[in-house]
Amino acid sequence: MNKIPLTLIFIIVLSSSPLWASPSLHKHQHFLHCLSHHSPHTYPISKLVYTPINSSYSPVLNFSIRNLIFSNPQTPKPLLIITPSHISHIQAAIVCSKAHDLQIRTRSGGHDFEGLSYVANQPFIIVDLINLRSINVDVQTNTAWVQSGATLGELYYRIGETSRSLAFPAGICPTVGVGGHFSGGGYGLMLRKYGLAADNVVDAYLVDANGRVHDRESMGEDLFWAIRGGGGGSFGIVVAWKVKLVMVPAVVTMCSTNRDVEDDAIKLIHRWQYVANQLDDNLFLGILLTGGNFSTREGITNPTATFFSLYLGKLDELITILKNNFSELGLTKKDCVESSWIQSTLIASTGVQTFEPLEALLNRTPPTIESTKFKSDYVKDPIPEATIEGIWQRLKAQDIEVPQILFIPYGGRMSQISESETPFSHRAGNLYKIGYAVSWKEQSLDAKNKHINWIREVYEYMTPFVSKSPRAAYANYRDLDIGTNNKYGKTSYEQASVWGMKYFGNNFNRLVYVKTKVDPHDFFRHEQSIPVKLA
Ligand SMILES: Cc1cc2nc3c(=O)[nH]c(=O)nc-3n(C[C@H](O)[C@H](O)[C@H](O)COP(=O)(O)OP(=O)(O)OC[C@H]3O[C@@H](n4cnc5c(N)ncnc54)[C@H](O)[C@@H]3O)c2cc1C
Ligand SMILES: *[C@@H]1O[C@H](CO)[C@@H](O)[C@H](O)[C@H]1NC(C)=O
Ligand SMILES: *[C@@H]1O[C@H](CO)[C@@H](O)[C@H](O)[C@H]1NC(C)=O
Ligand SMILES: *[C@@H]1O[C@H](CO)[C@@H](O)[C@H](O)[C@H]1NC(C)=O
Ligand SMILES: *[C@@H]1O[C@H](CO)[C@@H](O)[C@H](O)[C@H]1NC(C)=O
Repeated sequence: MNKIPLTLIFIIVLSSSPLWASPSLHKHQHFLHCLSHHSPHTYPISKLVYTPINSSYSPVLNFSIRNLIFSNPQTPKPLLIITPSHISHIQAAIVCSKAHDLQIRTRSGGHDFEGLSYVANQPFIIVDLINLRSINVDVQTNTAWVQSGATLGELYYRIGETSRSLAFPAGICPTVGVGGHFSGGGYGLMLRKYGLAADNVVDAYLVDANGRVHDRESMGEDLFWAIRGGGGGSFGIVVAWKVKLVMVPAVVTMCSTNRDVEDDAIKLIHRWQYVANQLDDNLFLGILLTGGNFSTREGITNPTATFFSLYLGKLDELITILKNNFSELGLTKKDCVESSWIQSTLIASTGVQTFEPLEALLNRTPPTIESTKFKSDYVKDPIPEATIEGIWQRLKAQDIEVPQILFIPYGGRMSQISESETPFSHRAGNLYKIGYAVSWKEQSLDAKNKHINWIREVYEYMTPFVSKSPRAAYANYRDLDIGTNNKYGKTSYEQASVWGMKYFGNNFNRLVYVKTKVDPHDFFRHEQSIPVKLA
């Protein structure tokens, strides 16, 4: 039945992949020679390249894989991995990949939900920025330069080490990489006060498709706009970012409290939709719904709604705010803990009441690595109680290992930034964002299909209640279900605009304009890269 398409794919793969078809040492040698030739003698590249015959190739490849779906023998592997320690190595990788008709996948933290930073269906190499992770905090100007290979935890740690009144508004999970995260926006518990990570970037170093290095001034405002939320892997390799640090008080408060049906969880969630986006900007109050097999295993009610918050201020003030504005929740002091902001970044990832040493923020390996699938939605009008009830029922599924749904409140600073200020267009008018997540350990095709079907069904169920025309999605929650470019050939604008409008709204067209200007031959491309549009 599928004979013709399969044959076609096979032929196209072969014809476009001279190196792939014959991965001989000989071909590697040509490429390696090119790399050495294009690297200065003062910064030799030879000790930074891993070919498949090198015993470190697999461990290096595996080290930053964060989704087990893309970690099996069938997953396409890179011809080699380069781990640059100097910007010249990135330039050499680009020039030589172009000359050898290889694609580059750039990897910073490896958290891409679809594995696009380390998997491609064409002959490719990985430029892994793990060695480029220096961080320089400048307390004179309240700024920091951070290289893309650093993790958010490393950035938080270095800021906390320098000053207890400075902070940075980025993601919750400390192992996420700066490179991909800033490229796609980057939200965390301070988004209502300070916006996204990308909103706080003031300069950057980037290597373009010709191997040229630029800062903000030489790349120009169009390209500088595009890299702050337009998604990683389309415009070049961003080597480092200069960020504006933000002020936080000496004491912040984190709370977390569980509610189940007995506690009227559904009514509380319904009410939350009207309240959370209106609260004081210093207060973030989100909800995490957890169900399935996990709830049963952990001995919590299936499902459970966890209300969790970060307040930039003291516990007493927080209690007063919630008493006035959301008394139904019944949050009490014992649900909360006061700490420094830097401590709060650790608590956010390990849970309230655990006081691990801050050095845990420097650990690049998450506690568990499983197979996962994520999706996202934006909500502009409160969803009815009956719909929340419908979500609740779906979360009960016992054959699903870890189903979770995250509600991230907007409002505050998020509503003040215009839709076109950066490529991230989901601003005023959005009450909250939904993140759907499912993870599982069982490594079988059956298990994979079952879990992916579960999340797709929930997403389908939500259609009438979330943003429409287009149904918006978050670029950093990469989801190839919402559309992809042509896998093997050049990207078509029409095909790409399907997913592009969902991620970026009307900003998509400006991203296409910038892409066409800076990378007209579409060198930096992947299944959801910004397309080139020739007039
Ligand atoms: C456990 C977990 C928790 C998360 N929590 C949050 C959260 O709290 N908030 C949030 O906003 N998001 C969150 N995310 C999503 C995360 O922001 C994105 O997956 C982000 O793109 C990851 O960046 P990375 O560098 O780790 O990923 P990578 O997989 O390395 O890169 C992602 C994409 O960017 C490209 N890229 C990477 N580095 C560069 C570079 N230097 N220059 C140009 N392109 C580059 C890659 O090629 C790829 O296309 C989470 C993801 C996971 C897995
Ligand atoms: C593997 O590659 C690394 C990095 O290039 C190099 O230092 C090491 O010597 C190589 N090991 C082997 C066994 O070839
Ligand atoms: C890959 O890394 C994970 C943890 O990071 C580890 O559990 C797993 O065994 C590794 N797999 C291989 C093939 O090295
Ligand atoms: C919160 O409560 C205060 C004091 O009653 C009130 O002035 C404010 O309008 C309330 N805000 C919201 C979002 O309900
Ligand atoms: C949860 O799933 C695991 C792995 O699939 C299984 O071993 C376990 O028995 C399940 N637990 C429950 C309570 O269903």
